[in-house]
Amino acid sequence: MAQIQRLGLLTGGGDAPGLNAVIRGAVRTAERVYGLDVVGILDGFSGLLDRRFVTLTSVGVRGIIAEGGTVLGTSNRINPFAVLRNGALVDRTAELLDNVRQAAIDGLIVIGGDGTLKIGVELAQRGLKLVGVPKTIDNDLAATDYTFGFWTAIGAASDALDRLRDTAESHHRVMILEVMGRDAGWIALHAGLAGGADVILIPEIPYHPEIVARKIEERRQRDQAYSLVVVAEGAAAAGGLPAIKEIDPVTGHSRLGGAGDRLARELRPLMEHEIRVTVLGHLQRGGSPVPFDRILATRFGERAATLAADGAWGRMVCLSGNRVEDVAIEDAVARTSTVDPDGELVHTARCIGVDFGAEPAD
Ligand code: F6P
Repeated sequence: MAQIQRLGLLTGGGDAPGLNAVIRGAVRTAERVYGLDVVGILDGFSGLLDRRFVTLTSVGVRGIIAEGGTVLGTSNRINPFAVLRNGALVDRTAELLDNVRQAAIDGLIVIGGDGTLKIGVELAQRGLKLVGVPKTIDNDLAATDYTFGFWTAIGAASDALDRLRDTAESHHRVMILEVMGRDAGWIALHAGLAGGADVILIPEIPYHPEIVARKIEERRQRDQAYSLVVVAEGAAAAGGLPAIKEIDPVTGHSRLGGAGDRLARELRPLMEHEIRVTVLGHLQRGGSPVPFDRILATRFGERAATLAADGAWGRMVCLSGNRVEDVAIEDAVARTSTVDPDGELVHTARCIGVDFGAEPAD
């Protein structure tokens, strides 16, 4: 017997392949197993402030499992505690909570990254009942072994490397691919391994351009007349800072970008090879989710709906080994996961000849 009657559902933060599969899994479970009504909230917390709701049904979510993005829309610019209004920041949480009450929503499933879930934790302290579903293609939440969207992003990035190899090999060039990964180099590391990169530069291992240049040269002398380099957007040379593209005028958050171009500038004086830079950007965030992401997202959606129906508020679903479990949201958002420079994956990469632009002991 469900503890609630009407369940709300929203997606917040950057889109990720698999969001629609979570929505579908949650809606079908909520409706079919628990007989709940499900209300979709448009554009994240912004839709809760403006009361933009849609009815979600099993029939309505048919077929969306294969679609990237989110059918509900999202927003990562809205923080209900500080909304810009007539040039001043105002706290609109009371309004938001009132809107939830008026829409007769008994509890919410919030699907989002750490920014969205942190807002969720604060709203929960103000009385909102919610269950969290973690979302980040960067895969940088410690509480879950994987997030959906990550393997789709790896697919796009390793496919890009396969394509770049053609030009690298034909022209004997150094091809640099810049991928996402603000604080964590998981995408760069996995895509680099899957795509056979020679050099992988990640935020967790500050690099030395001279070492990168030397390793590229050594490799070329030994067995290969071209080079594939993957650089995470958050990577920086030792003593340097990540390359910032712009500061968002609304949120004040810095948007990263330019790590690949900067690396090319650092390497050009150190070698004579032609260097070209490709920025993968949002191409790695869109598109149809790969089967692993569809299945993980469906499992997350089912479990989130079940937790909500049971009234297990304040929990976040996660993957532990091959089991879907749940943890307290506030503990989960406090712990991020970054690449261990001495860990197994980096070790394997080094064993097969991948260079990280720094000696292991650095
Ligand atoms: O958090 C996921 C992420 O993909 C980061 O790796 C990247 O820095 C950011 O989103 C880009 O976000 P936006 O779409 O706002 O530019």
